[in-house]
Amino acid sequence: MLNMPRRSVAGIAAIVIACVAVAQTKPAAETPAAPTVVITGANRGLGLAFARRLSADGYRVIGTARRPDAADELRSLGVRVEQLDVTDAASVRRLAEAIGDAPVDILINNAGIGSRARALEDFDVDDAERIMQVNYLGPMRVTQALLPALRKGDRKLIVNITSTYGSIERNTRGGAYGYRESKAALNMFTRSLAAELKPHGFTCIALSPGWVKTDMGGPNARLTPDESIDAMIKVIESLSAEHSGSFLNHAGDAVPW
Ligand SMILES: NC(=O)c1ccc[n+]([C@@H]2O[C@H](COP(=O)([O-])OP(=O)(O)OC[C@H]3O[C@@H](n4cnc5c(N)ncnc54)[C@H](OP(=O)(O)O)[C@@H]3O)[C@@H](O)[C@H]2O)c1
Repeated sequence: MLNMPRRSVAGIAAIVIACVAVAQTKPAAETPAAPTVVITGANRGLGLAFARRLSADGYRVIGTARRPDAADELRSLGVRVEQLDVTDAASVRRLAEAIGDAPVDILINNAGIGSRARALEDFDVDDAERIMQVNYLGPMRVTQALLPALRKGDRKLIVNITSTYGSIERNTRGGAYGYRESKAALNMFTRSLAAELKPHGFTCIALSPGWVKTDMGGPNARLTPDESIDAMIKVIESLSAEHSGSFLNHAGDAVPW
C-alpha cells in the first residue's frame, strides 16, 4: 500500500466514497423491517423473559399485561405495552384495534395459569372453567383477533406455549386437574390451526418451555427463565413450514400427543 502510485490510492478512495454514498442513499424500503412479535402475559415469568430477549435481539416487541400500570419491568425494556386480559373479549378486541393495519410476524400465546390439585376431591370444578378460559379459549380468542395482522406479517408464525402436562400419552401420574385438560385442548387447537393455515404459509406450533423457575414453576424447577427462553428461541428461529402442527419441547424434540 505504501508503494502504491498516488493515482491508485485516489482511485480506491473514490470507489470507497462512492460505495458509502450508495449505502447511505439506499431507499428505506429496501431495508427489511424488524419483525414484530406479540407476547401475551409479558409482565412476568416466561413472557417477560421472552420480551427482554427478543427486544435485545432487535424484534419490535408488543408485550401485553393485564395491568400495564403495574408492569414496571416490562415497561423498563422500552417495548410497546398493551393491556390484555385473554378472558375478556372486549380487551382482546381493543388489542387488535390498537395494532390496527400494522403487520404482526409472530404471536406467542404465553399467558397461562396453573392448577395444584392432586386429587379430584380437592379440586373445585369451577376452577376448571377459569383455567380453560385462560389457557385454551384465551389463545383461541387472541389468535382469531390478530389473524388479519398475522396474515400481513412475513413470518406468519403462531407459537402456543403449552406443557408436557398436556400430553395424553405421557400422563401417567394424573393430578393438575384443569391444567392438563386445558393444555391438551390448546394442543388440539394448535393442530387444527396448523391444518387450516398451512396453505396460507403459516407455521403453528405447540411449544413446551420445560420446568422453569417462575411463579408457576416454583423455586425447585430445573431451568431458569433465561435458559428456557434461549432454548425456545433457538427452536422458534429454526422453524419452517414442515414443523407446522408439531408439539415440541424447549429442546426442539417432538413430544407425544
Ligand atoms: N413455569 C413452568 O415450569 C411452565 C411449565 C410448562 C408450561 N408453562 C407455561 O408457560 C406459560 C408462562 O408461564 P409462567 O411460568 O411464566 O407463569 P407465571 O410466571 O405465573 O406468569 C403467567 C403470566 O400469564 C398472565 N396471565 C394470567 N392470566 C391472564 C389473563 N387472564 N389474561 C392475560 N394474561 C394472564 C400473568 O399475568 P398477571 O401477572 O396479570 O397474573 C403472567 O404474566 C404458561 O402458559 C404456562 O402454562 C410454564
